[in-house]
Amino acid sequence: MFPTGVVAMCGMDDAAPVGMAVNSFSSVSLDPPLVSVCVARQSSTWPRLDRLPRIGLSVLGSDQERLSRQLSSRHGDRFQGVEFEATRDGALFVRGAALWLDCAISDRLAGGDHEIILFEVKDTTLFPHIQPLVFHQSQYLALSNAS
Ligand SMILES: Cc1cc2nc3c(=O)[nH]c(=O)nc-3n(C[C@H](O)[C@H](O)[C@H](O)COP(=O)(O)O)c2cc1C
Repeated sequence: MFPTGVVAMCGMDDAAPVGMAVNSFSSVSLDPPLVSVCVARQSSTWPRLDRLPRIGLSVLGSDQERLSRQLSSRHGDRFQGVEFEATRDGALFVRGAALWLDCAISDRLAGGDHEIILFEVKDTTLFPHIQPLVFHQSQYLALSNAS
């Protein structure tokens, strides 16, 4: 019953794009700038991201529902047809997102069957004209003004 956005958490692993959709993203601290994501312990993607010096977090735009499904799929190429930009340090950002956060892992905390990953935000790119995708009760929605 708690609406969230959807974040593409991605990087370049030996020249291959790797990533997953997450909605456990949260802001944590302003100084230093920290955000967090909870990752399932059985994730097969996280160990490949975990070793990168930088990881890209892209807050998906309202027209990126299909991309969210693709980046959570257990079958097929998650990056087929996806336009992205990668940095030299391994962070990968998807085009069409509302926000890019270039992050480095700052800490890992136990969180039951998930691991709580604390990221330090090293760089930020905003696309204010792009509305975010909303995930609520397992459905994809768009923002609208409350009246
Ligand atoms: C909207 C949405 C949000 C998700 N949020 C998370 C999350 O916060 N943490 C997580 O570990 N997996 C999350 N997943 C699942 C992953 O995207 C992915 O399906 C899962 O990690 C299995 O793939 P893997 O073995 O490649 O990691 C989410 C999936 C969707 C569709």
